[in-house]
Amino acid sequence: MKRQVILWAAVLALIGWMSYGIWRGEAAVIAERDGAAAVSAPEEEKALPAQKLIALTFDDGPHPVCTPMLLDGLKERGVKASFFLLGGSIEGNEEIVERMAEEGHLIGNHTFSHVQLTKISPREAEKEIADTNEKILAAAGVLPVYIRPPYGEWNEELEELTDMEPVFWNVDPLDWKIQDREKVAGHIIKNAGDGRIVLLHDSYETTVEAALEVIDTLKKQGYTFVTAEELLVD
Ligand code: NI
Repeated sequence: MKRQVILWAAVLALIGWMSYGIWRGEAAVIAERDGAAAVSAPEEEKALPAQKLIALTFDDGPHPVCTPMLLDGLKERGVKASFFLLGGSIEGNEEIVERMAEEGHLIGNHTFSHVQLTKISPREAEKEIADTNEKILAAAGVLPVYIRPPYGEWNEELEELTDMEPVFWNVDPLDWKIQDREKVAGHIIKNAGDGRIVLLHDSYETTVEAALEVIDTLKKQGYTFVTAEELLVD
């Protein structure tokens, strides 16, 4: 009787040991499979169709100090932005404008002297637009297609006057007024959304810092930064 008990105990121990071996083997296979899945996950994420696109646009430049600072930060992060330039600010900053084009940013028109286009004569408006396009073409070799009308003021007359396409915005952190990196970045992050166009001004260091912070934060949330053109074309 005692012998039988010992025998049964030995059999059970053997079964237990074998099952443990099988379980361990399976666990190893599962671990290997999960490991492989973890490696390929980032590629799958990139292929997801539900992409969140957002455009940062900068008005009133080029600025001799802040714009190159911004361009450096954008280049480091592989991000393309849109610049709506004042024709009157281009002289002496041609190299900055050339760099924008070289680095794949969208260059648009923001009039020559930051006038409200709806308050001047059609002839004056035409000149404001044409003189700015001429300056951009001379500096960067590209003829702008898009215009950001100062103060967002646009009407049917202007629509008929020019072939340029107006680009407005739907996120405005009032960066020029606030001049506070944290508040500006916070406003944009809070109001970010797919297809949003953000209005900024590359004439302030706080704006440059805020824009770069926004890029780093929103990229982690799955956003892709594109030019305004890429959002308008859809
Ligand atoms: Ni402006």
